[in-house]
Parts: sequence; C-alpha cells; structure tokens
Amino acid sequence: MNPAKDRYLALNRQSWNTWADSNYKSDFYQMEAFRKGASSLKEIETALLGEVRGKSILHLQCHFGQDSISLARMGANVTALDLSDRAIDLANQLNQEMGTSVKFIQGDVYAAPELIQDQFDIVFTTWGTIGWLPDIQKWAHVVAKMLKPGGRLVFAEFHPVIWMYDDQQEEIIYNYLNGAAIEEEVEGNYAEKDKVMRGTIISWNHGLSEVIQALLSANLTLTSLSEYDYSPYEIFKEMDEIEPGKFRLKNSETKCPYATL
Ligand SMILES: C[S@@+](CC[C@H](N)C(=O)[O-])C[C@H]1O[C@@H](n2cnc3c(N)ncnc32)[C@H](O)[C@@H]1O
Repeated sequence: MNPAKDRYLALNRQSWNTWADSNYKSDFYQMEAFRKGASSLKEIETALLGEVRGKSILHLQCHFGQDSISLARMGANVTALDLSDRAIDLANQLNQEMGTSVKFIQGDVYAAPELIQDQFDIVFTTWGTIGWLPDIQKWAHVVAKMLKPGGRLVFAEFHPVIWMYDDQQEEIIYNYLNGAAIEEEVEGNYAEKDKVMRGTIISWNHGLSEVIQALLSANLTLTSLSEYDYSPYEIFKEMDEIEPGKFRLKNSETKCPYATL
C-alpha cells in the first residue's frame, strides 16, 4: 500500500477523465480533420519515427488515441496505454469508427510490464507525458523493459524550462529540477483554456539531465537529442504563433527552448 501514490493516481485520473471528454470535442484536437484521415502526429516525431510499417509500437500515455490510431494508419501494430478509463473508452470508440485495430489498455505507466507481456520495436511517448510521473528512473526502466533488444524509444516532450513559467507566461514560479510534487487546483486545461472544469492535479518537473541520466542508467543508448525554439502546441493562452503550428511564449524576444529528444 502506498497512500500518496493512490492519491495522486486517483486525482489525476479524475481530472484526465473530465479532460478526455472535453478534449475529444475541442478545436485543439481537430477531430473533424482527423476523422477524414489527417494524422495527429507532428513533424518532429514523424521525423524521429521514420518508417513504421510492420513495426510493433507501444504508445505510453496515449490519451484518447489519436496518435496511436495515426501510427496504425501508417501500418504499425500498435498497443497503447493510458491511466484514464474515460480516455481509453473514447480511444476504443474511435478505433472502431476508424476501422483500425490498436490494442488499448487502461493502466498506470509503471504497471506496463505487468499489464503487457510483449516487447516492442518502438516505445513512443510524446507531448505532456513525463510531468505526470514522480519517478523518472522508474519510468526509464519501464521503457527499457518494454523494448525488444535493439528497440528504440521515440520521445518528444515540452522542454522543462517551459514548465517553470506561470500560466500567464510572465513569471518563473516553478523549480526547474524535480523537488516535490506540484499540487494545483485547476479550472480549464490546455485545450479548453476558458472552460470551467474544476479539479486537482499533481505533477512533477523533470530537468533535462534527470531524464537523460535516467535513460542512460536503464542501459539505453542516446542516439539523438534536439531542442527547438518553438512549441508545436499552444499550451498556454495567447502564445505567439510565429508560423502556422509553431508557438512561442507571448511577446517573447527570447527564443526559449521548447521540444526535446
Ligand atoms: C497530455 S496527454 C498525452 C499527450 C498526447 N500526445 C495527447 O495530447 O493526446 C497525457 C496523458 O497521460 C495520461 N496519464 C497521466 N498519468 C498517467 C500515468 N501515471 N500512467 C498512464 N497514463 C497517465 C493522462 O490520462 C493523459 O491521457
């Protein structure tokens, strides 16, 4: 028994259940285009993935499955896992509607080795994932366990510097390095910034060296690392869109780093 773990999983699952329903209908996720066949994957991860046809992919923290289904449409054999039971319900509905055969599983990332017996060519996880996990070493070991010998982790994430800022992108209020759990009462979320959806979330910041060291200590080999001066998602309200689909902090002369790995 671990009451602190049970508590953060229950609170985050509850918030993600609410957000899953709302996100599914939001403009942010562009469901109409997705239903017509558009891929939800961004250029950054598509370039990292390369050819996926015939490859087995484990998608960790898949939300309601847009990226998982996009990968399946590209010919990959996809298994996908998420904590939110509501997100997994929606993912299964979408899977059926799109005629794809992704295997969706509800569960905690740390339980993946018990929930999923296979090993994969690629473990894929992107954009807003590790901040929900307290122990990055444990995450890296899960990733390593789920890979076949010679398999690859494809990981794209918001740069940890971004998570130091408040929602107004004006002040630095959070630690860069992982200190303690960040517990917050929230109303809207990144996809519906003005909608009132009250909830409590618990998250963690992880610095770049923490993540890289964790992956190295799990015996993975780092083959590439990139940083970008834009975010492919408008994660804060009123960011500057410098080119279509490329966002920076509002009024920002400084070209803060955004996405990595
Ligand atoms: C920002 S979303 C994933 C990003 C994805 N690219 C997307 O936007 O569709 C984060 C997901 O992590 C899931 N999640 C949070 N904590 C988790 C945990 N401990 N284990 C598995 N999934 C978790 C949430 O339910 C949510 O669906």
